[in-house]
Amino acid sequence: MLIRLTRSFARSVKKTVLFTEAKEKADDKKPLVKPEPGKKAVQLQDRAWMGKRYIALVDLPDKLHKSAQKVFSGRPSKTIKEWGYKTAQILTELHGLEKPQDITKLKPFATTYELIGPRTPVKELKSYRHERLPKIIDAKMVAGEMEIPKIVSEKAPAVSLKYQEEHAIGYTWRIMPGSYGTVYRCLSEAVTRLPNINPTKILDYGAGTGAGSFAAMTLYPNTKIVAAVEPSKNMRTIGKKLTEKLPQIQWYETLANLPGIGDEEGLFDIVLCSYVLGEVENAVTRNLILDALWHRTNKLLLFIEPGTPKGFRLIYSIREWVLNTMTREEANIVAPCPHEGVCPQASDKHDWCHFSQFASRWPKAVIGKSPKEMPTDNEKFSYILLHRGPLPRQYLNNEEEAETLQEKSFFWKRLVHPAIKRKGNVIVDVCEEGKKGRYIVSKSKYDKESYRFARKSHWGDLWPYKFTTKNIR
Ligand SMILES: C[S@@+](CC[C@H](N)C(=O)[O-])C[C@H]1O[C@@H](n2cnc3c(N)ncnc32)[C@H](O)[C@@H]1O
Repeated sequence: MLIRLTRSFARSVKKTVLFTEAKEKADDKKPLVKPEPGKKAVQLQDRAWMGKRYIALVDLPDKLHKSAQKVFSGRPSKTIKEWGYKTAQILTELHGLEKPQDITKLKPFATTYELIGPRTPVKELKSYRHERLPKIIDAKMVAGEMEIPKIVSEKAPAVSLKYQEEHAIGYTWRIMPGSYGTVYRCLSEAVTRLPNINPTKILDYGAGTGAGSFAAMTLYPNTKIVAAVEPSKNMRTIGKKLTEKLPQIQWYETLANLPGIGDEEGLFDIVLCSYVLGEVENAVTRNLILDALWHRTNKLLLFIEPGTPKGFRLIYSIREWVLNTMTREEANIVAPCPHEGVCPQASDKHDWCHFSQFASRWPKAVIGKSPKEMPTDNEKFSYILLHRGPLPRQYLNNEEEAETLQEKSFFWKRLVHPAIKRKGNVIVDVCEEGKKGRYIVSKSKYDKESYRFARKSHWGDLWPYKFTTKNIR
């Protein structure tokens, strides 16, 4: 009798667990509601929509497909892919030697060489870069593209990459879709949270093959001019071919070729600089670029770097520059930072601030695909979006004073890791001034909306509610 009772009790517990799990899964799939335009009252589900900064997948626009087909045509797809993997390897090399570290005391915009120093034993470098390192070095030395031994030599290296035609084509195939995805994702922050930007002129500095220019045109189709500045002739040539259907995108070799230096005409509503700083040879040049781009910025300035410790270090240098050399009247941070205080990730020796974005690769119709090839890239990136002039955090005291959801969102914390979703509760890590916060959002202690949002949340979202439990970190 006792055994039968125990079994029936166990069965009912199992059923309840299965029911709860199924319900949670179903809840995860329900779409979040988009707020009605012009509606003043802030509904709870509207908050969820605004907090959702994550984009599941970014697709390359159809307009690009035809021109990409032309770029790839006449060459065997196997060769193009080899060039693509090789270019990706070289770019990885620029970032591969830096480990996560406390970057608060380092010289801003320093090169990897300045940090690692000339006497780092080769053995140590190898252990960090896996066994693949010697092979990569050989490949590059043979191709004569980079002076690789400089990293372990006594002379200061000038790590730079000259884009030959094959690199430009390889870049277009292997890297451009991911870059398009991350620029699209970062600019979407502005589209949703700063809806009055309405740019007419955009500058894409170090435009490469035009990924950023294209993403900007997709999000702001009424833009009249996109000035794509690209010093490499091979990259520019491919970029021109890819963007020939968009006459708004005009190509220049240097910033000096742009009209209106120092006056209104030379200003751009949005300035983009994606994946450029990592390729610049020294701190002085990086500072000069930052300064020059800020002087060209009318409203927004966006920097994106790979989501590596080095990429974050460069982005952190920009954050320090904004907070320490500018007033809050002059420049402020739109994203990702939810505060102007001490960055909790900068002193963390095991972590760095970065996010992730899935982006579709070129479809089969553009270039042949083997069944083994992944259809998407999971692109890791670090970024900072700056705004000329004050933002809601500067002219309002708290979220309660904000009238619109957009303004409120400037007071919300950002999820800096993927949420850990368990049965009945979700652990979220958020960025807070000076430290990271870790909260357990449980079904029993949180209201239905907050709990639902936590279950559906992703890395990079904003947390649009109050945390009602303690920080457990
Ligand atoms: C990795 S690609 C990024 C291209 C593009 N922004 C994207 O997101 O796909 C870096 C580009 O920066 C350019 N570049 C390198 N050093 C530069 C500099 N000092 N000023 C401007 N552009 C530079 C290179 O020619 C190259 O096209």
